[in-house]
Amino acid sequence: MTISNITDIEWSPHAARLADELVAAGKLTDPRLAKAVQGVARHAFVPTYYQQTADGSWAERASIDDLAAVYTNSALITALATTPAGTTVLSSSTQPGLMTRMIEALHLADGKRLLEIGTGTGYNAALLVRRFGERNVFSIDVEPDLVDLARTRLAGLDMHPTLIAGDGAAGLPEHAPFDAIIATCAVPAISAAWIEQVRPGGVILTDLKIAPGAGSLVRLTRTTDTTVQGRFDATYAAFMDLRHIPGGSRPAFAVDRDHNRADYGTTSLDPNTPWTNLLVWFLASFELGPDIAYGYTIPHGGAIPAYSTTAPTASWIATSDGSWAEITLVQQNGLHSVAEGGPRRLWQMIEHAHRQWVELGQPGWDRFGLTVTRDVNIVWLDHPDSKHKWPVLR
Ligand SMILES: C[S@@+](CC[C@H](N)C(=O)[O-])C[C@H]1O[C@@H](n2cnc3c(N)ncnc32)[C@H](O)[C@@H]1O
Repeated sequence: MTISNITDIEWSPHAARLADELVAAGKLTDPRLAKAVQGVARHAFVPTYYQQTADGSWAERASIDDLAAVYTNSALITALATTPAGTTVLSSSTQPGLMTRMIEALHLADGKRLLEIGTGTGYNAALLVRRFGERNVFSIDVEPDLVDLARTRLAGLDMHPTLIAGDGAAGLPEHAPFDAIIATCAVPAISAAWIEQVRPGGVILTDLKIAPGAGSLVRLTRTTDTTVQGRFDATYAAFMDLRHIPGGSRPAFAVDRDHNRADYGTTSLDPNTPWTNLLVWFLASFELGPDIAYGYTIPHGGAIPAYSTTAPTASWIATSDGSWAEITLVQQNGLHSVAEGGPRRLWQMIEHAHRQWVELGQPGWDRFGLTVTRDVNIVWLDHPDSKHKWPVLR
C-alpha cells in the first residue's frame, strides 16, 4: 500500500470513532492525545496483519479489505517467525487503548523527551510524535527490518522521530537523558541502563514479567542516582517478551514427567493455568524462578496443540531444574489429583503462594510496588518498607 493510497482512502471517520471508543472506555482523557488518535492512519502502519484460523494456522489479512477492523481497540499481529518450535509472534500493533493509557500514565509535560522500547509498526511512535513533537521522540526495536519499515511509513506521513535498530535493554545512551522510557515489550527485570538514562524525577513505564505471565505494568520514578521506585497499575496488561537478538525467543527446555517416580497428592485449587489467578501466579513465581513452562496434557500424552478439539485431561508445570507437577482437571469430591516429580515440589509452591495471597487480603496489582537499585529488583506490598517483600530471581 503506497502513501498516496493511504491518504486517498476515507479513513478519518474510522480513526475518529476509535478515539470516541477509547474516551468512552476511560482509556483516553487528554484532548491532545485524542487528536493524535484521530489524526494518525493506523492502517498506514498496519497495511496487513495476521489472524489465527480454526486449524491454528495464520492467515494474512489486508487492512484495506476491512478498514473498520483496524480501527478497533484490538492488538493486531504484524510479524511472525518460523522457529523449530513452530510459528512465533515477532511483533504486533498494541491495543490502541493500552497505548493511550500508558502514554497518559507518563504524566509528561510538553517539550519532554521520551524513549520508546519496541518500535514495532511505528503507530505508537506516530501517536507520540503527534503528542510531544518529533524531536522529542526516540524509538528502538531489536528487529532492523521493522525499524526500516516504521521509518518509511512515518516519513510518508511527514513524521521524523529518531528510530534506531538495536537491543532496547541497553537504552539509547547517545541520546540520553530522557524524561521517560516507555517499553511496549515485557522485561524480566529493570535494566540498570534505563535507570541511568532517565532523568531524576523521570519515569520508566514497562511491563515487568518475572516469569511467563507473572507480572504487569509498573510505573517507576527515578528517586536517586541509582534507584527507581513505583507501583503496579491496577489493570493487568501483557506484552510480548523483550528479545536481545532479532528473531530470538525464550530458550525452551523439556522435562520428562515420569509418573513412576512421582509423589501423589490432591488439591482443591483450580488446576487451570496459570492457576486460580495471576496474582497467585506472580507470588508463586518468586519461588519458582524465571524458567517455567506450563500447559495442558491431552489423552495419550503430549502437549496440547493450539486450537485442538481434543479436551485436555490435566494441566502441568515444569521448571528448568527438572521439577514438574501435573494436576488432573476432573475432580472427585472437590479434589484434583496431583503428581509431582524432580527436585522441587512445584504444586506445593503454588499452594503456598495461594495461601499467602489469601492471608495478605487477596491484594490486586495496585497494592504491589517495585524498588530497583543497580543490584536488585524488589517487589513489595503496599509500601517500600513493608515486611512483605520479594526479591526478583534472575
Ligand atoms: C508489541 S510490539 C510493539 C508495538 C509498537 N509499539 C507499535 O506501536 O506497533 C513489541 C516490539 O518489541 C520489540 N522488541 C523485542 N525485544 C526488543 C528489544 N530488546 N529492544 C527493542 N525492541 C524489542 C519487538 O520486535 C516488537 O516489535
